[in-house]
Amino acid sequence: MRVIAVANQKGGVGKTTTAINLGTALAAVGRRVLVMDCDAQGNASTGLGVEPTARRKTSYDVLVGEATLEEGIIGTKVPHLDLVPGDENLAGVETLLHSDPKKNFRLREAFEAYRATGKDYDTVLIDCPPSLSTVTINAMVAANAVLVPLQCEFLALEGLSQLLRTVDLVRGALNPGLEIQGVVLTMYDKRNNLSDQVAGEVRSFFGQKVYQTVIPRNVKLSEAPSFGLPAILYDHRCSGSEAYIMLAQELMQRERERVAA
Ligand SMILES: Nc1ncnc2c1ncn2[C@@H]1O[C@H](COP(=O)(O)OP(=O)(O)O)[C@@H](O)[C@H]1O
Ligand SMILES: [Mg+2]
Repeated sequence: MRVIAVANQKGGVGKTTTAINLGTALAAVGRRVLVMDCDAQGNASTGLGVEPTARRKTSYDVLVGEATLEEGIIGTKVPHLDLVPGDENLAGVETLLHSDPKKNFRLREAFEAYRATGKDYDTVLIDCPPSLSTVTINAMVAANAVLVPLQCEFLALEGLSQLLRTVDLVRGALNPGLEIQGVVLTMYDKRNNLSDQVAGEVRSFFGQKVYQTVIPRNVKLSEAPSFGLPAILYDHRCSGSEAYIMLAQELMQRERERVAA
C-alpha cells in the first residue's frame, strides 16, 4: 500500500482534480485505489459523485477517532476506486485536536489499524486541504510520499519553500521515510508564454522530480465534477483525461524504478 499525500497549501492549484483523475487512471489499469478526501469543502467527494447525504462517516470521523478507516470507506461509480468522504467538520480538527499529544499520528494509526485487519489498497491518494494544518501534517505523517501539483501561473513557486520546509520537518521529526513523489505542472496553457516560463522555472528548481507529463488547461476537467464524474469517465478522450492517464503511467514507471533500485 503506497500512500501519497496530494498537497500544496495554495488553493486552486489542482490538488483535487489530480487526486480524482490520477486515482481513476490508476484504477482503470486495475490498481485498487482509495481516495481520502481530507478537505472540508468535500470537492473530491462531490467530484466522485458522492453527495453530502451519502457521506455517513468521513475522514473527520477517522481523524478524531469516531470511526475506523474501514467504517469510513465507501464505493464509488469508478470500479476499483473507493472513497473516504470529506465534510465541513474537517475545518474543526485543528481546534479539537489542539492539545492532543498524538494529534499528528491520527491518520497513520488509522492506516496501521486497517492494515492489521489484512486489508489494503495498492494506492491511497490523500486530497489535502489548502493549508499546512494538522490535517495536512496527518496526511504527511501517514504517507510514503508527497505529490505536489503546481499551477502554471505567476507566483507558482511562491509559498513552495514553506511547503518543502514542512516536508523536511515531518521527515526529520515524525516520518523519516517521507519522499517527494513528484511535482506535477497543472493548468498549462500552451498559448500563454507565462506557462512555459513557469514550467521552465519549476524544472530548473526541481529537476527530475517534475513529471514529464504536464496537465493542460482543459475545460472538461473543470466541467466533469458538476456531473459527479472523473473527467476520465466524462470524456476519456479530452486532453485533460489523456494527460492524467499519462501521468498515471509515469507514476507507475517511477515506482517500478524505485522498487528496482
Ligand atoms: N487542468 C485544468 N484545466 C481547467 N480547469 C482545471 C484544471 N485543473 C483544475 N481545474 C479547475 O480549477 C479549480 C481548482 O482546481 P482544484 O483541483 O479544485 O484545486 P485545489 O484542490 O488545489 O483547490 C476547479 O474548479 C477545477 O475544476
Ligand atoms: Mg481541493
